[in-house]
Amino acid sequence: MSRTIRLGFLGLGNIGSATYNLLRDKADRIAERAGAEIRVAKALVRDASRPRPGVDRGILTESVEDILGDPAIDIVVELLGGEEPATSLMARALRSGKAVVTANKLALALHARELFEASREGGARLAFEASVAAGIPIIRSLREGLSANSVAKVEGILNGTTNYILCQMAERGVGYAEVLAEAQRLGYAEPDPSSDVEGRDSAYKISILASLAFGRACSPSEVSCRGITEVDALDIAYARRFGYAIKLVALAERREGGLYLGVQPTLIPADHPMAHVGGPFNSVFLQADVVGDLMFYGPGAGPKATASSLAADIVDLAREPGALDPPELGSGLPLLPAGSRVGRRYLRLLAPDEPGILGKIATVLGAWGVSIQTLTQELCPDGRARVLIFTHEAAESSHEAALGEIARLGAGLETESAMWVDSLGGR
Ligand SMILES: NC(=O)c1ccc[n+]([C@@H]2O[C@H](COP(=O)([O-])OP(=O)(O)OC[C@H]3O[C@@H](n4cnc5c(N)ncnc54)[C@H](OP(=O)(O)O)[C@@H]3O)[C@@H](O)[C@H]2O)c1
Repeated sequence: MSRTIRLGFLGLGNIGSATYNLLRDKADRIAERAGAEIRVAKALVRDASRPRPGVDRGILTESVEDILGDPAIDIVVELLGGEEPATSLMARALRSGKAVVTANKLALALHARELFEASREGGARLAFEASVAAGIPIIRSLREGLSANSVAKVEGILNGTTNYILCQMAERGVGYAEVLAEAQRLGYAEPDPSSDVEGRDSAYKISILASLAFGRACSPSEVSCRGITEVDALDIAYARRFGYAIKLVALAERREGGLYLGVQPTLIPADHPMAHVGGPFNSVFLQADVVGDLMFYGPGAGPKATASSLAADIVDLAREPGALDPPELGSGLPLLPAGSRVGRRYLRLLAPDEPGILGKIATVLGAWGVSIQTLTQELCPDGRARVLIFTHEAAESSHEAALGEIARLGAGLETESAMWVDSLGGR
């Protein structure tokens, strides 16, 4: 093969070494697809003296200049993780004309504009398929496969850890804390799981997808974010009884007046394929005007799945180094403020078992324009009544105002839980 593309890896940890191995093990196939031999020429690590089985020691370096300052390196593969120094190094590489491939959701979610600008300045491409939903080719689909479409909605299960926890809670009927502790023991959840369980990880990912789908810079700080820490085994059991599963759903939806971004535990129909996304898997559901509904499913984490997407980006850049411009991220489409979601809700309330109490609840909800679709009451062991309500669509401000007034009634009423219900294009 006459052409050789030289890669400089920034980082050779979990993902870096899996990608290195994949490029080595499938060298012939990848060279054929890329039209060039792909060679890892250098790899930046913190400690080059540490044994790294299967890695040619001659490529290891502790100096970033050996990569960014080397004109023979064509593509920089950023796998350091974290916001800095990853973002600055990628921007520098792009400005100097080197193409960049990354799996870094944090850098993309927080600094997409700056990185795209550097890409334009240097005339060098930035590819980031592996930054969202690891093995699912969702970035490519949004950027290339849906060019003729106007996207109305992107939503997904984008965090494997929380999906694993919710699935275990549903399968075994056990509580959140117990499953989280077990997931940490098994290595499925980080020792500090806050970014996952509080929904921030999903917020990073939906802001990247929303920026591409709607051509508007979306920041994770603009995502209304609620994690799974308050999801109770009781909610999961009631949801199932009424034909729903509870998932942590990340949502970007174009509505009249602008774009809504949210990450919330959500009841979705149990017969929708997204309800069956199990364990660490991810799924993305899309509504677009020409093609209609689309759903993607696959491994959302893990070295092999991530390396698969990184290798695809590397092949793509080797084949067409200057083909695809970075997306334009305007600010034309207004972003709807937090608290402006419109939808159906599931409410779980505790009430004294006395005449007229259901009437009081219905009156308050009705006064705020929240109409009840179904209401079920059952007796608790302590003699109080548990009231389960599914509402029709209403504005979030109306839902919240009604719940606030219910709390102020002083009639012994207590809202235990309130979650969105999303039909995902169905009933
Ligand atoms: N894990 C997944 O399933 C997954 C999925 C999708 C995307 N990602 C993303 O992939 C990226 C890499 O994750 P990872 O799990 O491979 O991380 P990792 O195992 O911690 O590896 C990081 C690598 O970067 C090197 N490094 C870090 N900071 C450095 C610095 N300041 N100077 C020099 N070298 C430095 C480390 O060197 P040493 O080897 O010497 O320590 C190591 O080789 C992250 O952005 C992550 O979000 C991960």
